[in-house]
Amino acid sequence: MIPISRATSKTLTPSSVNSGDDTAPPKMPVLKEKRNTYRTFLNDLPERVTIVEVGGRDGLQNEPKMVSNDVKIELINRFTQAGFEKIEVGAFVSPDWVPQMAGSAEVLAGITRKEGVEYSVLVPNMKGFKGATSGEYLPEKIVIFGSASEIFSKKNINCSKAESMERFSEVARKTKENGMQLRGTVSCAFGFYGDTVTLEDVTDVVANFRELDCDEINIADTIGVATPNRVYTLLEHLKHEVPVDQMSMHFHDTYGQGIGNICASLQAGITTFDTSVAGLGGCPYAKGATGNVATEDVLYLLHELGVETGVDLNAVADAGRFILDQLGRKSGSRAGDAIIAKREQTTKPGPAKL
Ligand code: HMG
Ligand code: MG
Repeated sequence: MIPISRATSKTLTPSSVNSGDDTAPPKMPVLKEKRNTYRTFLNDLPERVTIVEVGGRDGLQNEPKMVSNDVKIELINRFTQAGFEKIEVGAFVSPDWVPQMAGSAEVLAGITRKEGVEYSVLVPNMKGFKGATSGEYLPEKIVIFGSASEIFSKKNINCSKAESMERFSEVARKTKENGMQLRGTVSCAFGFYGDTVTLEDVTDVVANFRELDCDEINIADTIGVATPNRVYTLLEHLKHEVPVDQMSMHFHDTYGQGIGNICASLQAGITTFDTSVAGLGGCPYAKGATGNVATEDVLYLLHELGVETGVDLNAVADAGRFILDQLGRKSGSRAGDAIIAKREQTTKPGPAKL
């Protein structure tokens, strides 16, 4: 009987690198194949990726400690200075439902805007739309958020999926009339607790958002259960429904799959990702889910892969430290912690030389 490993190695191995000993493991050819796989992966990477920093909204909405509007403004300003081109500023939702987002109008009015940066806000209905557009400055983008899960829709926005689309249709029309961009976020695209979400559930919400003339479709894993294979498979399907450059991904990192999911999305051609500073985030109506995939971790990955983002990773690590100090909590970003620790180590005075 021929051992399977030897039979496989023979098909992969150029005879010149064989040791001549049929029993020796084919080390070189296997390594070569790995390098080739890696090179193919790199060849498929985009030159540039856009990061949407959601730490000022998703990052703060579920924190037990409330932060002042001044702190929120300082955080958003730090994001602008760090080089983000897209920043989520807040949410015009009920303060009874999400108290942390209560000051969104003041924050939107108080930030220092930079030309070319897209500042966006979440809006669930016309009351929210009026709040978002009654100040001196309009946000560049309005985000409507519908769910692929019926259970989550009722928990999060107190209405069915069908009812939510009726509410969104007027918001969408007014958004376009006012010359703003429109993003449709599909929550729970990979499931919700106790609810099976099918491919059809996701494509239905996507189709509704397309009918509402959304400029961007944002696919969200609200409870952080997606894995790279599921992400890739879903995107391969959705690519037939939405041009890939109009799609973006929003991952929560509950099971530690965020970075893997980003890689799978990159392979599927996605070039826009939501991330949150220090891995903050979570929805108050999706208990048990953890924060978003951390901005610092994603920037570290992308920059190491040679993909440009235009964002200064060190400045984001500092913004992370700033908001963590305000919240009195630990970071959810390994890269953020590593950057700060390394900096402290190199600036710490060494032992006195005798
Ligand atoms: P409702 O109670 O069904 O609303 O809430 P209603 O129309 O019956 O009104 C009840 C009261 O709320 C009234 O006030 C309204 O004026 C007020 P009252 O007369 O009793 O004094 N109200 C509002 N106030 C301020 N802003 C508004 C607004 N609308 C009504 N826009 C509602 C419906 C949608 C408002 C509520 O369910 C809500 O605010 N839910 C919170 C949703 C939310 O912010 N969730 C977290 C963000 S989504 C998320 O995190 C997922 C995401 O990150 C992607 C992912 O990870 O999946 C985006
Ligand atoms: Mg979220």
